[in-house]
Amino acid sequence: MEIKNARFLMSNSDVQKCPEPTKPEFAFIGRSNVGKSSLINMLTGQKKLAKTSSRPGKTQLINHFLINEAWYLVDLPGYGYAKVSKKSKEKFQAYIVDYVLKRENLYCLFVLVDSRLELQKIDLEFINWLGEKEVPFALIFTKADKLGANKLGKNISDYKDQLLEYWAELPPIFVSSAEDGTGKEDI
Ligand code: GTP
Ligand code: MG
Repeated sequence: MEIKNARFLMSNSDVQKCPEPTKPEFAFIGRSNVGKSSLINMLTGQKKLAKTSSRPGKTQLINHFLINEAWYLVDLPGYGYAKVSKKSKEKFQAYIVDYVLKRENLYCLFVLVDSRLELQKIDLEFINWLGEKEVPFALIFTKADKLGANKLGKNISDYKDQLLEYWAELPPIFVSSAEDGTGKEDI
């Protein structure tokens, strides 16, 4: 799939106000700072399309990007970062829960996890919740450039083992690096 053009459409905190659900949609979610916005920039080849920051909590709204005038990529706020504001302290913000459950054109949710870390409690909670709600998702191990091939392989294999303690089967799995472009074609 070649991304010929990508443009920002709108940001909002209300699933009812998102663009008409008439085009296929793919969204990125995961803990704050895991690299969701950077991945969107890598996939679209536009360094500044989605706003990134070394400080967690940068993306605060549901952001729609129109790709090839035909489908949407969506950048979501991270979860698991308590310092955002008193009101948005709930683990998974209400409008994110709403978005995931109600967005009828959502083909696949990509859950991003940091390839350097073992299975985090909050990610497991989120994955388990997706499973309960039967929301289709795939996993992306981000920041692969920060690890050597052996360590990366071992981390992913350990992660799979940990997930298999809870689930009988694994979701589709991808590996990415916004730095060197790993995963661009596969994802
Ligand atoms: P929030 O919007 O706060 O939830 O964060 P996010 O998940 O969108 O993360 P973002 O893309 O803003 O990236 C967070 C930090 O990680 C930035 O400093 C990025 O430069 C860095 N980063 C993201 N992806 C990669 C990657 O693949 N490799 C490396 N080395 N750094 C990355
Ligand atoms: Mg972001």
